[in-house]
Amino acid sequence: MSVPSSIAVLTSGGDAPGMNAALRAVVRRSVYEGIRIFGVYHGYNGLIRDEMIEMNVSSVSDILHRGGTILRTARSAEFMTSAGRDKALAALRGRGIEGLVVIGGDGSFRGALELMRLGFPVMGVPGTIDNDIEGTDYTIGFDTAVNTAVEAINKVRDTATSHERTFIVEVMGRDAGFIALAAGIAGGAEVILVPEEGRDLREICRRLTSGLRRGKLHLIVVVAEGAARAYDVAAGVTSEAGLETRVIVLGHLQRGGTPTAFDRILASRFGSAAVAALLEGRAGLMTGVRGDQLVFPELEACLAVRKRLDPELLKLAGILAI
Ligand code: F6P
Repeated sequence: MSVPSSIAVLTSGGDAPGMNAALRAVVRRSVYEGIRIFGVYHGYNGLIRDEMIEMNVSSVSDILHRGGTILRTARSAEFMTSAGRDKALAALRGRGIEGLVVIGGDGSFRGALELMRLGFPVMGVPGTIDNDIEGTDYTIGFDTAVNTAVEAINKVRDTATSHERTFIVEVMGRDAGFIALAAGIAGGAEVILVPEEGRDLREICRRLTSGLRRGKLHLIVVVAEGAARAYDVAAGVTSEAGLETRVIVLGHLQRGGTPTAFDRILASRFGSAAVAALLEGRAGLMTGVRGDQLVFPELEACLAVRKRLDPELLKLAGILAI
């Protein structure tokens, strides 16, 4: 694979806090290395429509602390067709671009693999609040989303205690319970419901009522959206255990806001490393982190495996909620 002298970057799929920090690192590392860098608007849709601008150091000034993505994002149906991908490839080649950094989640990486199959070098940077990408301990945006959820749980706890009520807090995570598990442990939830595990209303109620019996004033259930809908859980808890419930659905609130320092640093490392990898002639890989170390697993291998929740954390959540 030849070393590129001109590359592009796009953000795709659901936005995540820290995507801008990753973009900034991609651009600044490219400038540092003396190569040209193009920003693509609207994810893969922008590639197809050739919506790109050449970026420089000041194109990414003052975005490190901003949530969202200045390149905008999209989930592209057209890129799923081979005609769409051909147009995207033609746009890249037409501008003399020889490598691409894709910042996004699993859907975005499937698109990246399709480009690789067409012979175009791509590096993936995992950016999704869900943290559901195999091959990395953390994805960009997860830490911020968890902190947002914990802040909400802290506030809800005040009202839960004052009124001696049960609150059901629904967090994001259509297919994965990473946010629910982390926010539930950090927020001291009595019950955590994740899509990876079955849910048993009787067991949920047993845990809640045993908490009440030992004098707890507030009860908090954290539920991932993919495990159950919070309103259904609330109705079940009221009819089965007779508890007064209230529901909070955090939804897209968790996707916005200024990224935490952790996410900014992770994003900066990933963005810079993705450019360095392309310049070393490497592609088809993802930037990841294992412990403190950057790693570069194969994109294809990351997509082939469903990332598992840490069984130790699952067990801990049960132990702490007795
Ligand atoms: O993948 C990130 C995520 O926020 C999921 O947790 C959630 O289910 C989904 O995106 C929501 O997608 P949309 O923004 O298209 O409603």
